[in-house]
Amino acid sequence: MERRPQESRKGLTHRAVPRVAGLLLAMALMNVLLYLCLDRFFISPRRSTEDPGLCPYGYFRMGHMKNCSPWLSCKELRTEVRQLKCVGEGAVKRVFLSEWKENKVALLRLTSPEMKDDFLHGLQMLKSLQSKHVVMLLGYCEDDNTILTEYHPLGSLSNLEETLNLLKYQNVNTWQHRLQLAMGYVGIINYLHHSPLGTLVMCDSNDLPKTLSQYLLTSNFSIVANDLDALPLVNHRSRTFVKCGHRELHGDFVAPEQLWPYGEAIPFHDDLMPSYDEKVDIWKIPDVSSFLLGHIEGSDMVRFHLFDIHKACKSHTPAERPTAQDILDTYKKVLNSLRDTMMSQTREML
Ligand SMILES: Nc1ncnc2c1ncn2[C@@H]1O[C@H](COP(=O)(O)OP(=O)(O)O)[C@@H](O)[C@H]1O
Ligand SMILES: [Mg+2]
Repeated sequence: MERRPQESRKGLTHRAVPRVAGLLLAMALMNVLLYLCLDRFFISPRRSTEDPGLCPYGYFRMGHMKNCSPWLSCKELRTEVRQLKCVGEGAVKRVFLSEWKENKVALLRLTSPEMKDDFLHGLQMLKSLQSKHVVMLLGYCEDDNTILTEYHPLGSLSNLEETLNLLKYQNVNTWQHRLQLAMGYVGIINYLHHSPLGTLVMCDSNDLPKTLSQYLLTSNFSIVANDLDALPLVNHRSRTFVKCGHRELHGDFVAPEQLWPYGEAIPFHDDLMPSYDEKVDIWKIPDVSSFLLGHIEGSDMVRFHLFDIHKACKSHTPAERPTAQDILDTYKKVLNSLRDTMMSQTREML
């Protein structure tokens, strides 16, 4: 008699277990269904997987802004932006330090109507390539030929030496920071070669000063690409290659395949000039990296360790040059191994 309640409880438990398991299974199934439905209907921001701090397409967030704000329109650019002073100029744009809601911003104005196509191409690229590698777009107005971007007070990479010579930047004027800058630069080239739009070539880079002027140094000592006015698309599958401009190029900063191949006997003609691929960017990396490494204690040691990969970049056969990713991997390895060596040397000294 005494066992009966126990038995009945046992019996109840026996009957309840499948019911509970069924309930749990149903709940799990519902969760899966809900997850699938949400995933279908929720349009995830394009860039959120890449960098959680970035805004969805068409939005920006800068300085102390809490939320993402839509790109500024013509009306907002006309009424809310106060132009202060000219801080830079190239063939396509004149750049003004300006103010928007107490933020320093850069207002880019088209210099002359003949350059409008390049200006619009640059704007299109800025819109499509927003990421940690590219300057932040804040707004634009095609009718007024204006673009608004985040202002970087340290300016372009052309000012790097001057900036690093300032007393307040002595702590970052080390081979470690400079190698990290070079990694940032190669990271940008790698991003362009694997961009959401396909393989893009950084064409506006026919000499070192020109190349440096297309990138900005941020206040936290990283590099962003700024001038995207000449980024033609390569497609190896459809055998679509590019030419950087329509004029004859000279010098050894550009890749050998960018030079007129038929000698002086045949005058240069754009139609006869063969096209090429993204490996022209790889050819230029050793020169840019060497500039970034500068001439301080330790830069020659880094140069020595990068000798082989840089030699490979200078291969006359484009296909034999490494990819930007290969170079990035080598830079990382060199940085880590040199750091380890320094650490163990310091430990031995103590
Ligand atoms: N957002 C910015 N912050 C600070 N300086 C800038 C900014 N954008 C451009 N500049 C300066 O203006 C120069 C010219 O800009 P760029 O976009 O390269 O013009 P262009 O297309 O005419 O070559 C840059 O080299 C840089 O010195
Ligand atoms: Mg430029």
